[in-house]
Amino acid sequence: MKDALPQTIFLQDYKVSAFTIDKTDLVFDLGVEQTRVTATLTVARNPLSDEQNADLVLHGSQGLSLQAVSVDGQRLQEDGYLCDEESLTIKGLAGHAVITTEVLIQPQNNTTMMGLYRSRTMYCTQCEAEGFRDITYYLDRPDVMSEFTTKIIADKTHYPVLLSNGNPIERGDLDAGRHFVTWHDPFAKPAYLFALVAGTLSCVEDSFTTVSGRQVALQIFVEEKDLDKCDHAMVSLKHSMRWDEQVYGREYDLDIFMIVAVDDFNMGAMENKGLNIFNTSAVLANPKTTTDAAFQRVESIVAHEYFHNWSGNRVTCRDWFQLSLKEGFTVYRDSQFSADMNSATVKRIEDVSYLRTHQFAEDGGPMAHPVQPDSYMEINNFYTVTVYEKGSEVVGMIRTLLGAEAFRKGSDIYFDRHDGQAVTIEEFVQAMEDASGRDLSQFRRWYKQSGTPQLTVNSHYDAAAGTVTLDFAQSCPATPGQAQKQPFVLPVRLGLVGEQGDLPLNAEGDTEIVYELNQTNQRLVIGGIENVDQAPVPSLLRGFSAPVKLHYAYSKDQLIHLMANDSDGFNRWDAGQQLSFALLEKLTADSHQQRPLEMDSQLIDAYRSLLIDESLDPAMVALMLQLPSEAQLHEEADVIYADAIHSARLFVRQSLASGLSDQFLAVYHRHNVEQTYAPDATQIGRRALKNVALSYLMLVDDLGVELAGAQFSSADNMTDKAAALSCLVNCPAAAEQASSALQEFEQQYRDEALVMNLWLQVQAANSQPGALQRVETLEKHAAFTLTNPNKIRSLIGGFCSANLVNFHHPDGSGYEFLKQRILSLHSRNPQVAARLMTPLTRWKKFPEPNREKMRDALQVIADEPELVKDIYEIAIKSLQ
Ligand code: TRP
Ligand code: ZN
Repeated sequence: MKDALPQTIFLQDYKVSAFTIDKTDLVFDLGVEQTRVTATLTVARNPLSDEQNADLVLHGSQGLSLQAVSVDGQRLQEDGYLCDEESLTIKGLAGHAVITTEVLIQPQNNTTMMGLYRSRTMYCTQCEAEGFRDITYYLDRPDVMSEFTTKIIADKTHYPVLLSNGNPIERGDLDAGRHFVTWHDPFAKPAYLFALVAGTLSCVEDSFTTVSGRQVALQIFVEEKDLDKCDHAMVSLKHSMRWDEQVYGREYDLDIFMIVAVDDFNMGAMENKGLNIFNTSAVLANPKTTTDAAFQRVESIVAHEYFHNWSGNRVTCRDWFQLSLKEGFTVYRDSQFSADMNSATVKRIEDVSYLRTHQFAEDGGPMAHPVQPDSYMEINNFYTVTVYEKGSEVVGMIRTLLGAEAFRKGSDIYFDRHDGQAVTIEEFVQAMEDASGRDLSQFRRWYKQSGTPQLTVNSHYDAAAGTVTLDFAQSCPATPGQAQKQPFVLPVRLGLVGEQGDLPLNAEGDTEIVYELNQTNQRLVIGGIENVDQAPVPSLLRGFSAPVKLHYAYSKDQLIHLMANDSDGFNRWDAGQQLSFALLEKLTADSHQQRPLEMDSQLIDAYRSLLIDESLDPAMVALMLQLPSEAQLHEEADVIYADAIHSARLFVRQSLASGLSDQFLAVYHRHNVEQTYAPDATQIGRRALKNVALSYLMLVDDLGVELAGAQFSSADNMTDKAAALSCLVNCPAAAEQASSALQEFEQQYRDEALVMNLWLQVQAANSQPGALQRVETLEKHAAFTLTNPNKIRSLIGGFCSANLVNFHHPDGSGYEFLKQRILSLHSRNPQVAARLMTPLTRWKKFPEPNREKMRDALQVIADEPELVKDIYEIAIKSLQ
């Protein structure tokens, strides 16, 4: 570790800034050796601060080489200021001052992908959360909002395109082949929303007319070779703009909206005002090279970043403890959007699977934190599934409790009341209270308490009285720093399913109600349930109305009944998941104890009904035919026997495949798509089902191998091609076909970086023995490099999170590998290295010898000298 231990920052220590920065004037002179940044800041003492004599302390970082400082045009001598590795302090300022600093930075040597850096041939920036301080000295905190003017000077041949936030106000040529463009952003914003791009970029243009009739120019900038991959993002952008007007009453505010695609990027994309910067993987799409899943990801990320223009930019966060204010709300908005554009039930199932697998695991591990954390060492470690996805669930629960109309009213109040401000989660909840007249005091615990609540329900049917009594009990396990929890407000959407379907629950004839739970124990009695022969089956938590773990002792017959008869599509799917989960849990124990494995014929029957019913939605059938993933089984297990989980799951898949091979084959042929490729919900559903069927057929006999081989050769789209490739690669009987398919694929797509990522990913996830050696060989392949985050995620991330049985090999080789990669990466790119730590943090759930080996790997990492604080924080919290 560095000499000084990293500090912990606490929410309770928040203080308003002693200074404001009304105007920010920047000049970037981009040079080969050096980039000169001149910043002219119009500062004033903040009347809201109780420290009216404070020094001005600007944030900075190691990479800034300070050349000059002046105050009101007077150059300061070296004793007039104090400069260290993380700040520049200027003493004795009056009420107002104009501060000018000049620094030299070297973006060409910046490997962190924060601040100003180079990606291939262009310059670009990433300032959230605290990257602006790597560019110049500044009050780099989200509650300091300023009006920015940015002049960019660069060589005209290499950097013809010069972009920043807002509108271009001036451009011209300079001597020595240089030119400049000046941008002005009329909206005051925090520095984390600043962006700059310079490079040789091609542009796809379109326009959008807003509700009030203003024309907005839409531009997507990419490398020339990618011009044929922008249509989908453009269409998605226009859909998002219209949707936000119609659903939230939010209109776009500038005259231009730009998106730039860059290859080297730490996350998916960034919502910089008027100039979103995207990972190429989150914007480029083309049927020949992009899978359905990637098309949908592009649509949702384009929407996400666009929606931030209101939920994040016009109304921003006071401090980083409020991150979920913009992220939770914006994820909620983008999932509503995707639900509207595609199938709402399918989207909900995908989101809940993701939440259960990743967020529940985070909530149950050493990094568990509330949606509003109360402390952090490194803010970059808190861009988490809890802040994003659980934060979105919390917003969704507010909407469920208030109803759609009051929720929309609350959103209007929030945006109107706080436009131009940097606010807290509290202000959001307050607006919702004001709109509805509801008291959300107890509900606020969702923001403050970490951990996944457990909800246990028992029911009793009294035929004579015609009542169903539901007894609810909630609890929440202890999490780091929070031993005791108070009861949550849980909106439980529910119904009762009788022989013929939903039963009326009250005199009004409602077949579904939202029951609000706010006590530890609570009883609901539903009357008027007469004339039914059998006890009705409760359908609980419909649509996953609260992010909890539900326990209800369903019999197999009851689950099968819900699978076929529940009016709620999500719960039909979930009933199937519970059915297969129970079997997998039992078989995992059997496998671990080396008992013989026995298939449950009822599950085969249930699957058969799904396969032969042609009236069902193919997308839903595809989801229902998939067993819970190994990752989810790891999350749900008390002790993780990775090998036993893998064997049990494979056994059930094999049993289903051999029991239903004719049905799988029929479904495979029936769902071939004849039309020209389109990434619409109908086609996507058909392809999903066809490829799920194929993956089962691979487990039967040579038939699957033949089909996969034929599909691989004839596919006219990447979804079918990649699915066939993955089937071949994972099939022990298809070694030869797999290796020639991999070669052919490589030949065909060697120049398409994103497709080669898929190629790496498919191989990284190959669960057959010898995976680690294959991954190490691939690390030497030209398609891989440790300098690109997407490559690292595909190969190293893919191996450690999508190949669990090999990663957790009891010899510890997987852990050793990951440890070494983290250590070679941590100083070069702390953020990407920190994300690789996740699998190791779960060590306490593993049996020996894995447990000790994982712990040892963490210890070695924690002991590394000069460890960056991103990794240090995760390592020490995990070891506690
Ligand atoms: N705000 C971005 C989003 O839309 C997150 C993000 C992108 C980010 N790049 C980052 C956060 C780099 C931290 C560091 O979700
Ligand atoms: Zn976001």
